[in-house]
Amino acid sequence: KTLTVGLIPADGIGREVIPAARQVLEALPSDIMPARLRFENLNAGFEYFQKHGVALPEETLVALKSECDGALFGAVSSPSHKVAGYSSPIVGLRKQMDLYANVRPVISSEASTASGKKRAIDMLIIRENTECLYIKDEKQYEDAGGKYAIAKRRISEHASQRIGDMAFSMALQRDGMRQLATAAERTWSGRPKVTIVHKSNVLSVTDGLWRETVRGVYEGNEKYRSRVDVEEQLVDSMVYRMFREPEAFDVVVAPNMYGDIISDGAAALVGSLGLVPSANVGDNFVVGEPVHGSAPDIAGKNIANPIAAIRSAAMLLERTGYDAAALAIYRAVDRVLADGTIRTPDLGGSSTTTEVVDAVCKQL
Ligand code: NAI
Ligand code: MG
Repeated sequence: KTLTVGLIPADGIGREVIPAARQVLEALPSDIMPARLRFENLNAGFEYFQKHGVALPEETLVALKSECDGALFGAVSSPSHKVAGYSSPIVGLRKQMDLYANVRPVISSEASTASGKKRAIDMLIIRENTECLYIKDEKQYEDAGGKYAIAKRRISEHASQRIGDMAFSMALQRDGMRQLATAAERTWSGRPKVTIVHKSNVLSVTDGLWRETVRGVYEGNEKYRSRVDVEEQLVDSMVYRMFREPEAFDVVVAPNMYGDIISDGAAALVGSLGLVPSANVGDNFVVGEPVHGSAPDIAGKNIANPIAAIRSAAMLLERTGYDAAALAIYRAVDRVLADGTIRTPDLGGSSTTTEVVDAVCKQL
């Protein structure tokens, strides 16, 4: 068997952390990674746009669709002013490949608790990624009272259903991964749990439909009902609880905008942006992507933290059915972080990107 991974480093430190992730994938011993790995280097990004006038070339899309099982995306340098003809390649990619979920694990580790207090955070945030307020249907008006603006918010049964289904099935998949881990590594005991985030006490029509639909997915499926617990949390108290007792969450599912806010807030719980991975997931494709941007302030210096990208590669493996290989990478990274001697400057160390990669590969 072969697993073909498209590599799209794009801009800035993307060009450093994506090759780093590739090296780690290549270092997986064959007894835990049964498939042969193939890589396709693909173009996209703002620099590419400046040279060629297109940020997400057609060849990249064709290669992804026809040859790849999944991909890793680095980061794009999005201009802060409007540039004619430019649109974000990652946004385009999500749309073209129908990657309707943005999935973010938030995992604490020794190195990542700013306060030094050890907390076992192991949460997976699943954000709907196609609708809500981000359909960008907004308009400004004026009347006797002055200017005002209205934004539309779309919540559909279809989108809520498929994201709900993804949340419950990922809760089961995580449970399966936990069975592979040792007891000491497990941060969650008991049944998997899905927390549905909404604000249907105020937005009873839109969030009401969201809530009912996601609940309906659970109630309509015997496998979910018998093996997963479900709870609801209003988005404001979700934020409160997440900061007070982040260890109380397993899988969290939210509409687009709440999910955006919660997931950036959750990243703060575990320290540097350089540690936080994500995956853009659809029914047939996955694109792993570190949460951070192109970090122009440190690009080209070999000091970017590659761990977010490496963990994103592990998420790709999880989604494509290589749980044991994914677990091996998570474990290797955790050991390097726990050991603490090899750390990039964002974590207070003085190691290089290369040294972190070598340390992770050595653990594998
Ligand atoms: P950023 O995430 O690139 O950087 C924020 C800060 O975190 C910087 O000080 C940077 O050095 C540091 N940092 C980020 N990743 C790191 C890593 N792996 N190791 C060590 N330090 C790291 O966000 P910023 O500065 O707001 O944006 C820079 C560019 O990136 C902009 O053009 C922005 O549009 C783009 N961006 C792209 C994203 C994406 O591709 N998904 C997401 C966020 C920003
Ligand atoms: Mg965000």
